[in-house]
Amino acid sequence: MVLSVVQSAEESSSAFIDSVFASRYVQDPLPRYNLSEKSIPKEAAYQIIHDELLLDGNPRLNLASFVTTWMEPECDKLMVEAINKNYVDMDEYPVTTEFQNRCVNIIANLFNAPVDETRRAIGVGTVGSSEAIMLAGLAFKRRWQNKRKAQGKPYDKPNIVTGANVQVCWEKFARYFEVELKEVKLREGYYVMDPVKAVEMVDENTICVGAILGSTLNGEFEDIKLLNDLLAKKNKMTGWDTPIHVDAASGGFVAPFLYPELEWDFRLPLVKSINVSGHKYGLVYAGIGWVIWRSKEDLPEELIFHINYLGADQPTFTLNFSKGSSQIIAQYYQFLRMGFEGYKNVMTNCMENARVLREGLERTGRFEIVSKTQGIPLVAFAFKDKNKSLAFKLSKALRNYGWIVPAYTMPPNAEHVTILRVVVREDLSRQLVEKLLSHIESALSELEDEPAVPKITFTYEMKPRRFVGDGGEGDLHIPETSVNWKREKPKVIYKDVPVTGGKTKGVC
Ligand SMILES: Cc1ncc(COP(=O)(O)O)c(C=O)c1O
Repeated sequence: MVLSVVQSAEESSSAFIDSVFASRYVQDPLPRYNLSEKSIPKEAAYQIIHDELLLDGNPRLNLASFVTTWMEPECDKLMVEAINKNYVDMDEYPVTTEFQNRCVNIIANLFNAPVDETRRAIGVGTVGSSEAIMLAGLAFKRRWQNKRKAQGKPYDKPNIVTGANVQVCWEKFARYFEVELKEVKLREGYYVMDPVKAVEMVDENTICVGAILGSTLNGEFEDIKLLNDLLAKKNKMTGWDTPIHVDAASGGFVAPFLYPELEWDFRLPLVKSINVSGHKYGLVYAGIGWVIWRSKEDLPEELIFHINYLGADQPTFTLNFSKGSSQIIAQYYQFLRMGFEGYKNVMTNCMENARVLREGLERTGRFEIVSKTQGIPLVAFAFKDKNKSLAFKLSKALRNYGWIVPAYTMPPNAEHVTILRVVVREDLSRQLVEKLLSHIESALSELEDEPAVPKITFTYEMKPRRFVGDGGEGDLHIPETSVNWKREKPKVIYKDVPVTGGKTKGVC
C-alpha cells in the first residue's frame, strides 16, 4: 500500500501535506496501555501497526503450526465480503446458516455417520477443535450423569481416559468442567495411547475414552479399531457402555482421502462423536472447527439452547454466542471448489513432500525419525545424539534463516526425549522443503563450528601467613596463596517453559 499523504494533527489548512514518515506520528511515543486522548489519521495508524507487525514471524515459514496459512484469492475475497456478518444472526443470514448445515452434513458423510430418515447430520461449527472437544466432553458428561442418576448411583466423580499425548485442550476441558483426566503414560519409542492400557484404566465413572487420529506430537494415528474392540469386550463383561470420542483435529481431513480403508470413524460402533479442525487440513484460515455426533441420542437435548429473539427458533450449542461468518463460508468454498479429488491431491502432495523431507533428514545421519509413514503429513525427528540441548539449538539456528521449527520434550514417561517437528502444510512446496533441508544442513555445521567459549574457574587457596623479616615490628606479613584454575566446556541450558498442567509450549 502506497502512503503518500496524511492529515496533519492540527486541523489546519496544512492538512494532507505530510508523508507518514515526515509526520510527527512516527516520532511521538505510542500510547501502549492507555487510550490516547486524540485521534490520529488512518494512514498513520495503518503504517505504525503494519510496521510493528513486521517483527512477527512469517506465517508461511511457521512450520510449528497445523493451521492453514494460504488460501486462494477468490476465497480471501469471499471472506472479506462476509467480514461484517455475525454468524449467530441465523434468521438474518439464512444462507450462511445453510452453508454451515451443508458443511456439517458433508463432514458427517465423510466420517461415515449413519443417516436417519431425515438425512440430517447432528453437528455444529465451532471456533476450533478445542471448543468442539469441550462440547463433545460436556455431552458425554451429561449423558453419563443422567444414566447414573437414573440408576441411583453417585455421579460426582466423572473421569475421562486419554493418552498423555493429548493436546492441552483436553486438560482444559478436564479442569474447566471438573472431570478427572486419567492419562495413559507414554514410553520411549511409543508416543501414542496404548489401547490395552487405556481400556484397563476405564472404570464405571469413565464418561468416554478420547482417542487421537493424528497425535499433535508426532502425527501418529492411534489404533482406534483395536480400542473399539477391546472396549466393546469390557463393556460386555461389566455391563457399562463406555463410548469413544475421536479427536481427529488433524487426521479427520487426511484419513478419508489417503486411507479410506482405515476404520477409525463412525464405522466403529462405540465412536459417538468426532471433532475436526476446519482450519488445519480442512484448509481454512484460523477460526473454524467441527464436532459431529453419531445420532440425536448422543447429544442430550438439555444442552441445546433455543433462542427466538433474533427471529425464528434457533437451536444453539456453543460456548460463545457471536462469531464471524467468514470461516464457515470459506469452509464451504473449499468443499465446493476442491471436492474429494482436490483434497486427495493436496493431501497426497503434502505426504510426498513429507517423504522428501524425511529422507533428506535421514541422509544427514544425525536424526532418528519419530513420526510414521502413515499419519499426518509431518516429520518429527530427534537427534541420535541424546544431548537434549541440540534440538533446541537447531531450532534456534533455523530461526536465523526465517524458519520456525519447534523443539519440545515429550510428555510422561518419555520426558527425556526431545524432538523437533515440521508440519507439512499445503503451501510448503517441494522447493521450500529442499531449501529447508539445505538450511538444516548449514545449521548443523554451524552448530559444530560453534566456538567453544571456555569457562575458566579460579580457586584461591589461602595458606598460613609467612613473615618476611625476623618477625619484629614493621615486618611484612604476606598471606600465602596458591591459585588453581581450570578450563570448563560451556554448558548451554535451553529450557522449555512448562505450562500449568505439564504440556509443553510450541505445540499447537
Ligand atoms: C490432536 C489435537 N487436538 C486438538 C487440538 C486443538 O485444536 P484447535 O487449535 O483447533 O483448537 C490440536 C491442535 O493442534 C490437536 O493437534
